[in-house]
Amino acid sequence: MAETINTAVTRYEAPRKVSGETRYAADFMPAGLFFGELVVSPITRGQLASIDTREALAEPGVIAVYTHETIPKYETPKGFYAGGPGTSSFWPMTGTEIKYAGQPVAYVVADNAAAARRGAKLVKARYSKSVGRIEMDPSRSFVAPGKKDDNVITKGDLKAGIAAAAAVVDETYTTPFQHHNPMEMFATTAHWRGEQLTVWMPSQSVRTARAGIAAAFNLAETQVEVLSPFVGGAFGSKAGLPPYAMLTIAAARGVGAPVRLMVSREHMYTVASFRPESSQKIRLAAARDGRLTAFEHIETAQTSQFDDVINPGTHMTRAMYACPNIHTEQRLARSDTNTPGFMRAPNEMQTFFALESAMDELAFKLTMDPVELRRVNDTRSHPVADVPFSSRSLMACYDAAAKSFGWSRRSAAPKSMTDGDWFVGYGCATSTYPTAVAPSAARVRMYGAGTAVVELAAHDVGTGAYTIMGQIAAQRLGLPVKAVEVSMGHSSLPIAPISGGSVTSASAGSAVHVACLKLAEEIVRSVVKLKDNPLSGVDPAQVKLMDGALQGPAGKSMSLLDALKATPRGEAAADGEYAHPELTEQALRTTYKGGYGVAGPVTKTHAMFAFGAQFVEVRVHRWTHEIRVPRIHGAFAAGTILNRKTAHSQLMGGMIWGIGSALHEHTLVDRARARFLNTDIAEYLVPVNADIGEVNVQMIDERDDFVNPLGVKGIGELGIVGTAAAVANAIHHATGKRLRALPFTMKDV
Ligand code: MOS
Repeated sequence: MAETINTAVTRYEAPRKVSGETRYAADFMPAGLFFGELVVSPITRGQLASIDTREALAEPGVIAVYTHETIPKYETPKGFYAGGPGTSSFWPMTGTEIKYAGQPVAYVVADNAAAARRGAKLVKARYSKSVGRIEMDPSRSFVAPGKKDDNVITKGDLKAGIAAAAAVVDETYTTPFQHHNPMEMFATTAHWRGEQLTVWMPSQSVRTARAGIAAAFNLAETQVEVLSPFVGGAFGSKAGLPPYAMLTIAAARGVGAPVRLMVSREHMYTVASFRPESSQKIRLAAARDGRLTAFEHIETAQTSQFDDVINPGTHMTRAMYACPNIHTEQRLARSDTNTPGFMRAPNEMQTFFALESAMDELAFKLTMDPVELRRVNDTRSHPVADVPFSSRSLMACYDAAAKSFGWSRRSAAPKSMTDGDWFVGYGCATSTYPTAVAPSAARVRMYGAGTAVVELAAHDVGTGAYTIMGQIAAQRLGLPVKAVEVSMGHSSLPIAPISGGSVTSASAGSAVHVACLKLAEEIVRSVVKLKDNPLSGVDPAQVKLMDGALQGPAGKSMSLLDALKATPRGEAAADGEYAHPELTEQALRTTYKGGYGVAGPVTKTHAMFAFGAQFVEVRVHRWTHEIRVPRIHGAFAAGTILNRKTAHSQLMGGMIWGIGSALHEHTLVDRARARFLNTDIAEYLVPVNADIGEVNVQMIDERDDFVNPLGVKGIGELGIVGTAAAVANAIHHATGKRLRALPFTMKDV
């Protein structure tokens, strides 16, 4: 049996995807389906003075028009990250107050989608408005609530560390609003049959969605099923319970027929999560040899007027480099938007742009090679928590990527490298992502025909998770990957965590692994009692499962499949549950109640992080100031790599998104009207093929027995972290100009 873990297995559902055969939330067509459409507020702050639905109701095809007065009642969901990035605490269409532009004020249902859109245009709403503000005011920030020793920490003596330094960097870096533009539109199809509810929605967490929906509509969880078999781009945007989903479920109950809403591109900017803007104040001080003597990081992130969204960036930056004197603060500042949420590496993208730019500035002041500065400050233990890293291969990543990139060809002085009319610059930065593992369960069945079925409520958000879960089972059971069928994305399956925080492979994958071991034990218990096989009469405790082979004492062994065939049933099933030994009971309870409970990144005994290093070549045109990134090399160490092909794609995708963060992505703000401005994919820029040159991805071998039985750290978000800093540092090298506000455009250089 060829090894299936750590090889490049092509995802088996790919042909079905490219031929349009796979079905997404908006592809399910219950009989008698109606179509929903949102009417949203054009004002940012004020009151809904009146709303007239008569004209809309008279439109042919329109079935119902709901307002705050008529929408069927339900409780504001209190489930996953309620009052925060998952589920807003301020719920639209519950009153007349307007708190953000794009807030839903009416919901039109029609028997066809075009009529629903026409009806929405005919709803006449009047507003009384006051002045709103969409950009945060960092001068009115406050310390993020929560455990004080998390959000404000002080170690050592910052002032003394700065006084003792040979060089100090003290700068503020800013990052803009960014919005999700996934290929799959946000959509929900809701179907009530009496008190039995089926919801198709693109979800990163069908179990938490089910819990939240059931509670809001006062149903038992057994009365609700949530299906999300495929997700076309999640990245945090489909993690919670958004108003568009809940309003669709309520409307479907009201009209007594299934209803589907596909959210328009424009509305996607205000009814779902986004990356809040941020300001990052960094102070770094170092001795002549580069050793850090002080590190301060004060992050201020935007949040809504009604929720405290804390994506704790300072918790990550303070884990990076050895330093005796540290102060970090996690702050928030409010403005008039819907509640921000998760977006790929929800704080690390911003905070490592800042930290890794500052490290480059420090290296420049010390006239030190930027890679050497990282090496001097590399550490085996977490500088604040004072526990060892379970594994840390940061410098191995730097060495590998520096070599393939050709870093040694760099001449240190800015503007010293040119090619015709182009200034050429090289820059580098650290990537990291915290490793967290959630409790998870899986059911495995194996048949004498040499096939198996794996079931769990995890999700394939486009990453290849179906194939990866199949690979784990195939390897443990000794079957070809093709012989393993994987079923996911359905809320009645065994619990798996939210597909967020890069936890799926590590957590759900470990549950599949445990279920396979349980299954083997089951088969062993049966087969040792039978006559005439190699394991007859052997003590079951002495038999080990090694990749499809049952190995007993004294060289007695047989394949798992042969053992299964020998049993009277000829098939077997087992449930497996996985929880990290250092997972707290509280976290376990949280997950099983529909929340997000994890072990890590810092446990009682270890700090768990994945690392990487990225090297970028930038070209800046002497006359047009056009900025190009012809080459990017990244090396990453994230424990066991399960599938070298899908992992490569994830890391490459992250790096490309990182280039987008550096050069393209930016939700502009219309200050006069306090609204987001470029709310569509024509004007919201993302990198296209012509923007991306060579992307080189290396995966560094790393073994970590602490993180989980598979040794997996997770790679979904690692690739985007640090990229923007590497671009900024390369621009400085090319031009001598230090850019500290994302994104960088021609006018900045
Ligand atoms: Mo991710 S931003 O944790 O879905």
